[in-house]
Amino acid sequence: MMKKRIGLIADILMFALLVAQMLYVFTGNNVHEILGIGFFICLIVHVIIKGWWFSTLFKKGRPASKKAFDTVTALLLLCIIVLMISSMGVSRFLFPNFVFLGSAALHRYLATAVLTLAVLHGSMVGIRRAQKKKTAVVLTALACILSLSLGLFGVPYMNRHFKAVSIDHQAIVSGEKVDTKGTKCLAVYFTRVGNTDFEPDVDAVSGASLLISDGELYGSNALIADMVSDILGCDKAAITLTGEKYPSSYNDTVSVAGEELLSQARPATKPIDVSGYDDIILIYPLWWNSIPMPVASFLENSDLSGKRIFLVCTQGSSGYGSSVSETEALTSGASVTALTSIYCEDIPDARDELYTLLQAVYEKGEK
Ligand SMILES: Cc1cc2nc3c(=O)[nH]c(=O)nc-3n(C[C@H](O)[C@H](O)[C@H](O)COP(=O)(O)O)c2cc1C
Repeated sequence: MMKKRIGLIADILMFALLVAQMLYVFTGNNVHEILGIGFFICLIVHVIIKGWWFSTLFKKGRPASKKAFDTVTALLLLCIIVLMISSMGVSRFLFPNFVFLGSAALHRYLATAVLTLAVLHGSMVGIRRAQKKKTAVVLTALACILSLSLGLFGVPYMNRHFKAVSIDHQAIVSGEKVDTKGTKCLAVYFTRVGNTDFEPDVDAVSGASLLISDGELYGSNALIADMVSDILGCDKAAITLTGEKYPSSYNDTVSVAGEELLSQARPATKPIDVSGYDDIILIYPLWWNSIPMPVASFLENSDLSGKRIFLVCTQGSSGYGSSVSETEALTSGASVTALTSIYCEDIPDARDELYTLLQAVYEKGEK
C-alpha cells in the first residue's frame, strides 16, 4: 500500500516537473536544471517500484494491448535516456563542461517526445482500468495532441515572446580563426536591435530572443556577425533602417513585418559598400518564413554579381523557410550557398559550428 502511494506521488511529481520544465522561459535556466534533477530522482523511484515490468517483457503470449504498452514504455525509456544526455549537453549551470548532444532544438524535440509518450504511457494504464473505454481513448488522444502542441508550438512561441538571455559576449565570440587565403569577406547582418524603438526598460519589452551583454541589449544576428567576423578576421556591416523603426513590442513587429512581406515593401536602408569584397556572409533572422524586407532592400540595392553569398539564417523552428530561393531571386549573377540555419536558442553556442562550416569553405583556397 505504502509502495503504491509513493509510486503515485512520484508519478504525479514527475509529470508536474516535466510540464514545469517545458515552461523554463518563466523559471529561468538554473531552476530548469534543478527541476531536471528532481525529475531524474522521481524516475528512479518509479523504475524501482515498477521494475517488475522488465521481467514480464520476454514472456510469451502477451496480448496485443500489453505489447503496445511495452513498445510505448520502451520508447519512452529510450527517449528519457537520450533526453538526460542532451540535458547535460545543453546545461550551462550543473554540467557546463559536458558538450555531447548539446543542441537546444534537439533537447526540445526530445522533451516533447518524452512528455507525449509519458502521457500515452500513463493513459494506457488508465484505459485498461477505465469503465468507459471510448471516452478514455478520446481523452488520451486529446492529451497527446496537447503535449505535442506544447513542445512543438507552445515552447517556441514562449521563447520568441518572453525570453531574454544574459551572455558573456567576449567569451562566446572569440576563438579559433580560419585563413581565408586572400579572399575578402564581409559579414552583413540584420537584427531587431538597432532597428527597433526599444523601451528603456528591457523587462517591460516582450523579451523575444533578445540577448543582454553587460546590461546592453544585443541582437542575436549581431552576435552571429561578431562570431563570423572573429573567425574570418573580416569586416562586418549592419543593415540599418533609415526611416521608421520597428515597434518595441514583439507582436507589433510581427504584424508590421507581415504587412511588409505581403506588400513586398522595400524599407529604406543605409547603403553598404560591397564593392571590395569577394564573399558576403549574409546573416538574418527568418521573418514570416522569409527574409526580412530590409534584407531584400539590401540585396536589391547592392551589386552582388560575381560574388559568393553564404547564408546564415536564425529562426524559431522553421529552418530556412523560403529565404534561400528568395535570396537567389534577388541576386542574379551571384552564387548563393545556404551555410546554416540556427535555432534561436542555439545562437550563443553557434561559434563551433560556424567555425567548422567556414573552415570547410576556405580550406581549399579557391575562389
Ligand atoms: C517579425 C518576426 C517574424 C518571425 N517569423 C519567424 C518564422 O516565420 N519562423 C521562425 O522560425 N522564426 C520566426 N521568427 C523568430 C526569429 O527568426 C528568431 O527569433 C531570430 O533569432 C531573431 O533574431 P534577432 O534577435 O537578431 O532579431 C520571427 C521573428 C520576428 C521578430
